[in-house]
Amino acid sequence: MTVATVYKQGWTMDDVHWSLFDPSKVDPALLSAVKAAALVEYNAPDYVTYLKRVFADAGAATTAALEQWGREETQHGRALGAWAEMADPNFKLEQAFARFRKGYTPAHFALSEKGSVRGSRRGEMIARCVVESGTSSYYSAIRDACEEPLLKEIAGRIAADEYRHYKLFYDTLHAQPEPDLSIWKKLWIAVGRVRESDDDELAYSYYCANVSPEEEPAKPYKRRKYSRLAGQSSMAVYHRHHIQKLVQMVIKALGANPHGWLANLAGALLWRRLSAKSA
Ligand SMILES: [Fe+2]
Ligand SMILES: [Fe+2]
Repeated sequence: MTVATVYKQGWTMDDVHWSLFDPSKVDPALLSAVKAAALVEYNAPDYVTYLKRVFADAGAATTAALEQWGREETQHGRALGAWAEMADPNFKLEQAFARFRKGYTPAHFALSEKGSVRGSRRGEMIARCVVESGTSSYYSAIRDACEEPLLKEIAGRIAADEYRHYKLFYDTLHAQPEPDLSIWKKLWIAVGRVRESDDDELAYSYYCANVSPEEEPAKPYKRRKYSRLAGQSSMAVYHRHHIQKLVQMVIKALGANPHGWLANLAGALLWRRLSAKSA
């Protein structure tokens, strides 16, 4: 059985129960975080192009799985954006996304060569597993924390998708004929990917999603400031068990024991760091 044959789309926009929306239960901080997340998710097509280049000779099944993955990520952006437009009529997904696109292009998306910026396909898949671990725990945390029923449903649907994405990339990682990487190399890649998220992607998406073009002259983009605001708005939803699950998924992708001492230590340290950041 190939990776692609076990990988099927879960839902469409028509399956979402939009009439459940209850404006009285919208939390403003969570709304800011959801707007920013919508822009990041909606930016998936660039990532699909890049990954298809990395896996150019991997066969039709892999190409199809990557395209399906990209469609689902884009749909996450569309669903979160639609919810945010209902919660805040001043927010326009397409408009905010156009600004985000204009100001943010990761260097590796613009590169024309074939290879992965992680050095190998296995490295690329580890980086993807890190991201999907993060998104799967993040949307689970939103689902558990939010009281607004429509967002609860959307976050639940997305969390399930992200978990399947993790499995897709985990299986693809182990299907590579390349030799396994050392644990240090794998750790280096994982930590590098986490640090990239501290870069402009999250801060600038938060800025474009929450500062209107009219407000721009009075509120110019400052990475540190908006990185802090983005962190505060999203970290508030987490509970300790979401973070432990995230760490376990990453540790499993690294080939270590997800229930061993390393996972417990990393979970405790990450929880401390995030708690300090959101304080
Ligand atoms: Fe997603
Ligand atoms: Fe995903």
